[in-house]
Amino acid sequence: MRPACYITTPIYYVNGAPHIGHAYTTVAADVMARFKRLDGYDVFFLTGTDEHGQKVEQAAREAGLDPQTYTDGISADFQAMTRTMGASNDDWIRTTQERHKLSCTELWRRIAASGDIYLGHYEGWYAIRDEAFYDENELTTRPDGTKVAASGAPVEWVREPSYFFRLSAWQDRLLKFYEENPNFIAPTSSRNEVISFVRGGLNDLSISRTTFCWGVPVPDAPDHVMYVWLDALTNYITGCGFPDEDAPRWRFWPADIHFVGKEITRFHAVYWPAFLMSAGLKPPKRVSANGWWVVEGEKMSKSLGNVIDARDLVATYGLDQVRYYLLREKPFGGDGSIAYKGIASRINVELANDLGNLAQRSLSLIARNLGGVLPARGPVTEEDAVLLASAGALPDMVRAAMERQTFHEALDEVWKIIRAANGYIDRQAPWALNKTDRVRMAAVLRVMVDTIRAVATLLQPFMPTSMANMLEQLGVPEHARDIAALSAPLADGIHLPAPRGVFPRYVEPAA
Ligand code: MSP
Repeated sequence: MRPACYITTPIYYVNGAPHIGHAYTTVAADVMARFKRLDGYDVFFLTGTDEHGQKVEQAAREAGLDPQTYTDGISADFQAMTRTMGASNDDWIRTTQERHKLSCTELWRRIAASGDIYLGHYEGWYAIRDEAFYDENELTTRPDGTKVAASGAPVEWVREPSYFFRLSAWQDRLLKFYEENPNFIAPTSSRNEVISFVRGGLNDLSISRTTFCWGVPVPDAPDHVMYVWLDALTNYITGCGFPDEDAPRWRFWPADIHFVGKEITRFHAVYWPAFLMSAGLKPPKRVSANGWWVVEGEKMSKSLGNVIDARDLVATYGLDQVRYYLLREKPFGGDGSIAYKGIASRINVELANDLGNLAQRSLSLIARNLGGVLPARGPVTEEDAVLLASAGALPDMVRAAMERQTFHEALDEVWKIIRAANGYIDRQAPWALNKTDRVRMAAVLRVMVDTIRAVATLLQPFMPTSMANMLEQLGVPEHARDIAALSAPLADGIHLPAPRGVFPRYVEPAA
């Protein structure tokens, strides 16, 4: 049986249209899910929308719609974005679904049964934009006297009856959990931040609200709705069929990787494992945080008018090109800036030249000089052996980088081989061998096909359509496109389809 693997994205707030930041996390999680499938895992990949809470209620009011109609519209738009980005999610979760309300209710009951919930009164700061409670010492005061959180979100003073989760009692157990699971939080900077936050002492957490009603009602206390983060985090178990622990999908819990933005690591790495352990459920295996994108060096904002919808980039540059750029351009955990010139240059240099031309050159020589028939391997020279050995080691190199979610390093490993293969073909010059040594020419071209096959196989998660196209041209049957299949050579003598370019160059439209 294939091992199970469960990958999630954060569920996105429906208080506005999707932008490149959302698309980025979705693409990263999708690349991971596709890589795991390619590597023989039985994958469940979940994404969706976070639809309750004050922020969404407010946005609905501003749009002049009731919250359900409003969230239906925006959630559908997020789903459309998810499809446009080529995501291979197995389900689409919305926190307004009945299955999710059931799941939240049951999780609450289990936490309550363990004695970790009590009724009290919350008085303190709340940032609607972050849907987060803040301590006085986490805030700064602006010249006009208003207070803001570190994220820049304004806070307001809240005073209301509230249920609390006894988070303070979880400090030692959480610290022990982090110590025993050194890979639980990535990257290290996020891990250190979380650990020092927990070491600093934990306050009990307010987990219900009474001053608005757009949320899941607290069991037996209908005046309270659950705090939106308790509701939202629960989506990850709802997706696996919770509370039905006999559901077929329950085999996927605990999640292998929760992909999250760095600003929401605290919710996933502190509150979430505490809620789960309190309810007697296993915590997730890993929380992997991504850094943020800005655009041409500026923070995206409606007032600057520089908010990018990833779908517009896809329309301009192509889907695989955008997926590639997003994961290549910046280290996953760090911040980065989207630059239009940079996208065009990566497309032209790395995709069209380095990779596209490499395949096109090799395949057109086979078409032209060998009648499109895949040659057999010849006697292996030292240079052949070096290239073939590094192509053979590629799956392990890429797998190791993917395990760390350092997507740019995975791509870097692949590009090392692409560059080596370009050097090899230039030195071997099979076009010249056509006149002097056709036997050696055939052998060189077979080395090229085998090397490009390894490259294209491993690039499939990043650029599914283009790599399917390339593998087709290399004569790799659909059932032989996973990592395990790389150990079985392609049959000699098969007829390859006529080669055609995979990556067109990007040409700036005339102004
Ligand atoms: N609803 C919560 C998550 C609940 S998960 C149980 C939420 N939603 S969000 O819509 O505000 O943003 C979700 C994610 O979008 C962020 O965590 C991050 O992964 C991604 N991004 C949003 N803006 C981004 C950038 N500018 N750059 C990169 N990613 C960013 O938080």
